[in-house]
Amino acid sequence: MGFFMPRRVARQGVTSSLTFCNFESMRVLVTGGAGYIGSHVVRALRLQGHEVVVLDDLSTGHAAFVERNGVPLVEGDLGDPAALRRAFGDYGRIEAVVHIAGKALAPESVRDPGPYFATNVTGPIRMLDCMRKHKVERIVFSSTCAVYGTPPSLPITETCPRNPISPYGSSKLAFEFALEGYRAYGLRALPLRYFNVAGASDDGLFGELHDPETHLIPNLLRAAVQGSPFKLYGTDYPTRDGTAERDYLHVEDLARAHVLALERLDSLDFNAFPGALNLGTGRGVTVREMLSAAEAATGRKVLVGEEPRRPGDPPALVADPRRAQELLGWRAEHDLESMVGSAYRFHSQAGFEGGSMRNERRLKFGELAIKAGYVGDHAVQQALKTQRERDGIGESHKLLGLILLEMGAISNEHLIDTLRRMNEASQRLKKVT
Ligand SMILES: NC(=O)c1ccc[n+]([C@@H]2O[C@H](COP(=O)([O-])OP(=O)(O)OC[C@H]3O[C@@H](n4cnc5c(N)ncnc54)[C@H](O)[C@@H]3O)[C@@H](O)[C@H]2O)c1
Repeated sequence: MGFFMPRRVARQGVTSSLTFCNFESMRVLVTGGAGYIGSHVVRALRLQGHEVVVLDDLSTGHAAFVERNGVPLVEGDLGDPAALRRAFGDYGRIEAVVHIAGKALAPESVRDPGPYFATNVTGPIRMLDCMRKHKVERIVFSSTCAVYGTPPSLPITETCPRNPISPYGSSKLAFEFALEGYRAYGLRALPLRYFNVAGASDDGLFGELHDPETHLIPNLLRAAVQGSPFKLYGTDYPTRDGTAERDYLHVEDLARAHVLALERLDSLDFNAFPGALNLGTGRGVTVREMLSAAEAATGRKVLVGEEPRRPGDPPALVADPRRAQELLGWRAEHDLESMVGSAYRFHSQAGFEGGSMRNERRLKFGELAIKAGYVGDHAVQQALKTQRERDGIGESHKLLGLILLEMGAISNEHLIDTLRRMNEASQRLKKVT
């Protein structure tokens, strides 16, 4: 519990464009808080004085991001009853959920849709039922412009028909429908339909590390830095330079929108608008324009290999973000240069290979001891079982070491050396706050 700030602080929060009035701090569960967007949202919530618990299975996320934010991590699948029990039960009363966890690769969802419906619909519905049980009635949800499919006109407003063209988009829409239905139970639910999220934190601590990386900016930066060819799909679209046009939004602007959404959830009149908000800048950027921005940021040329259009890629997707501006008092503030520049600074520190930070997380005692060759996997499993069976002794990694010692599975010297390694590893992980 040492993570938390004092509770129930009525405060005056300030952002660069807005002054909030006396919002009480909330304890918020952020699913997917170890991921790219989630880690920025956690940071923004903390900076506004909210307490945060992260629920993440680390399938694509990074424990190091959670550590940098200094908040507790419940490691587990959001559809797993035991993980939900811990998330909602172990850290005090959760007052709101920001549901960001999800699978998000549209082409993969076409080839293998099952996991998309399991992760993006079935699991989250279990979580909604757990929220009901714990009387948690606020949720902000990471939806996507993929729910619109190929829009009939631009810019896209929230009343544009929802017509997804991939199982990914359908799974996100299905959960939007579930949220609409659960309003009958008193749930206040706001789906935020993000357009293309990009950029990194200004200080280079948080950014985008996906494996495989499918997003444009990290791939352009890698191509520029490594001198590898960049595949440009489609040069004959009906856009100003023939390449696909998208609405790119800086991840820090996006994170700020979540804080505002959460804080205004209670006062929104859900009958007076379509129930979801688009988050974008309202300006489209083509692939060639982004390519020039990446060349300017890195000072290097990108080698381009032109390829035919990919099936299912609409020519242009641009948001009409006016409703979010009106209801949340929010607007995107970062420009293209700061998006690409911050991403470049982040990758210059974290590497240009997606997922490369995954191993940087603080290893648990058992993992470290196995890695050092001091104990076997079987002994660690036995010790974990003993630890679970002894009521009230908690999950401390150091205690696990003592149980291994008691079992005669580890020597005193190796116990001390493993603890030293744990300490060194956590020193290496920088803290934000
Ligand atoms: N990145 C974008 O441009 C973009 C655009 C529109 C919508 N979105 C949505 O935003 C969300 C986050 O995107 P991101 O780019 O940060 O992705 P990400 O992969 O970096 O983050 C997703 C996080 O969810 C976790 N997760 C996945 N399945 C889980 C499960 N079953 N249980 C618990 N945790 C689980 C992952 O470990 C990861 O930390 C996704 O839901 C995505 O659909 C992203």
